[in-house]
Amino acid sequence: MADKMIDADILIIGSGIGALSVAGKLCKEGRQITVVTKGLEKACNSSLAQGGISVALSKEDDYRLHFKDTMAAGCYQNDEEAVMTLVSKAPDIIKEFIDTGMKFDTDENGELQFGREAAHSLNRVIHAGGDKTGLLVVEQLLRNINENVTIMKNEMALDLCVKDGKCNGVITRDPTGALKHYKANHTILATGGIGQLYPSTSNDTTITGDGMAMAYRGGCKLKNLEFIQFHPTMLTIDGNAYGLVSEAVRGDGGILINENGDKIMEGVHPMKDLAPRDVVAREVYAHYLKGEKIYLDISAIHDFKERFPTVTEICESHGVDLTKNLIPVGPGAHFHMGGVEATPCGVTNIDGLYAVGEVACTGVHGANRLASNSLLEGIVFGKLLAEHILEIERKAPDFEYIMPEHTVDILPEKSEIQNKMMEFVGIVRHRSHMGEILNWFEQFIPKGCDTFAALDLTKTTNEQIEVYNMLTAGYLIAKAAMDRSESIGAHYIVD
Ligand code: SIN
Repeated sequence: MADKMIDADILIIGSGIGALSVAGKLCKEGRQITVVTKGLEKACNSSLAQGGISVALSKEDDYRLHFKDTMAAGCYQNDEEAVMTLVSKAPDIIKEFIDTGMKFDTDENGELQFGREAAHSLNRVIHAGGDKTGLLVVEQLLRNINENVTIMKNEMALDLCVKDGKCNGVITRDPTGALKHYKANHTILATGGIGQLYPSTSNDTTITGDGMAMAYRGGCKLKNLEFIQFHPTMLTIDGNAYGLVSEAVRGDGGILINENGDKIMEGVHPMKDLAPRDVVAREVYAHYLKGEKIYLDISAIHDFKERFPTVTEICESHGVDLTKNLIPVGPGAHFHMGGVEATPCGVTNIDGLYAVGEVACTGVHGANRLASNSLLEGIVFGKLLAEHILEIERKAPDFEYIMPEHTVDILPEKSEIQNKMMEFVGIVRHRSHMGEILNWFEQFIPKGCDTFAALDLTKTTNEQIEVYNMLTAGYLIAKAAMDRSESIGAHYIVD
C-alpha cells in the first residue's frame, strides 16, 4: 500500500509532445489532468529533437506519397491502416496547431519552408528555429495548456496499478520520498523510449525504458521490440557521443567522408547520404569498427550557424572548429520503433491504460522510422487519444495496490548494461551470440521469480528501479531480437 491515495481523472506519465498534445485537448474540455514526470517538464526527447515534422503540405506533395515513403522506410513491416491514419490526418492537425500560435520556419513570402531528410522522396519536413523544432513545439504545447493541468516534476512513476486486466492508476515516489497511489480513471503512458540502454545516444538522460518495463509488469502486450533505430550522426569525439547532428544537415548538402576525404555513401545506396537511416548508420558503424574517423563535410552549406544553431552550439561547446567544415560523427541509439502495442488512439490490451509517443508501438514506423515522423506521431495520435477519452465514460475500478515482496540483491552499473546492449543487440547482431546476453540478464532476475517481476518499492530506491527497468527492457529487447531470425530494417543480423 502507498503512503497517500490521490484521486485523479486523467493521469499522464511523461511530459513530451505526446503527453502535452493529449493534455492540451482535454484541458480545454474542462477535464482535470495530472502529469507526472521524472525530471523537469522539458527533460524529454521531444525537447532535444532537431529534425522537424514531416507533413504533406507543400504544393507538390500528397499524403499518399508520404504514405509510400513511410512504408518503404519501414520495410513494409508497418501497420498500413495506422500509417494511413497518421499521414492523412497530419495536414489538418498541423494547420490547427499553427493556428494555436506555433511558428514554423517560412520563406520570404511567409510560406512554410520544406526541408529534406533521409528516405523522403521530396522536401516535406517543416522546422522551427532552424534545428530547435522539438523545443519550440514543446514550449508552444506548454502555452496551450491551462490551469486544469497540474505538472508534478521530479516525481518518478514506479509501477502501474493493474488487477484482472484493468488499470486504476500508478504508484509514484514524490520528491519528499512519499509513495503515492494516483487512482485515475484514465492512465496514459507517455514515457518515451529506451535510448539510455546504449552507450551512445541522442536521448535525454531520463529515457531508461521505464514505461516499457512498467507496462510489461502490468501485463501489457509489447510489440516489435527488436527494432531500434540508430542515428548515423552523433557528434562523436574519442568514441564519446555529445549530441545529435541533425539529418537535415545532410538534407542541406552535408556529406559523410572518411579521413582521406572519400565519400563513404558513394556506391552503397542510390540515395547516398540520404539513404534510409539504418543503411547510413550501418555504413558509418562499419568504418568506425575499422578504427576510421568519419566526418560530416559541411562545406556546401551556406549560413550553417543560422540554419543549425543547436548543432553549432553542441559543436562549439565541445571544441569543434566549424570553420574547418568538418564535424566528427558516429552512430548512436535514437528511436525505438517497438513498444507497448497500441492503436492510433492509444488503446492497449489493459483497460484504462493508454500509450502515446515513442513508448507506444502503433505500427506506424515498421522496422525503421521515416525521419521526422515521430514528433508528428505525438501530435496526431495525441489528439486522437484525447478524442477517444472524451467519447468514453470510465471510473477507475476500486482496488488497492498490493506491495510486492521481491527485492534485488545485486544490480550492474548502467554502463555495463549499455555496453552489453551495443555488443549484442546494437546496429549489427549475431544470433549465435544472443544466448550469452540473455544469460547475463537472467542472473539479475529476483530470487523466486521467473522474470523481472515487480519489486517491493519500500525497499528499493528510484535509482535501483531505473537500473531494474533498464535490465527489464534490455532483456525483453534481446529476447525479441532472438525470436526474429531474418534481417529486416533496423534488425540487422549477420549470421
Ligand atoms: C534528425 O534531426 O536527424 C532527427 C530527425 C528524426 O529523428 O526524425
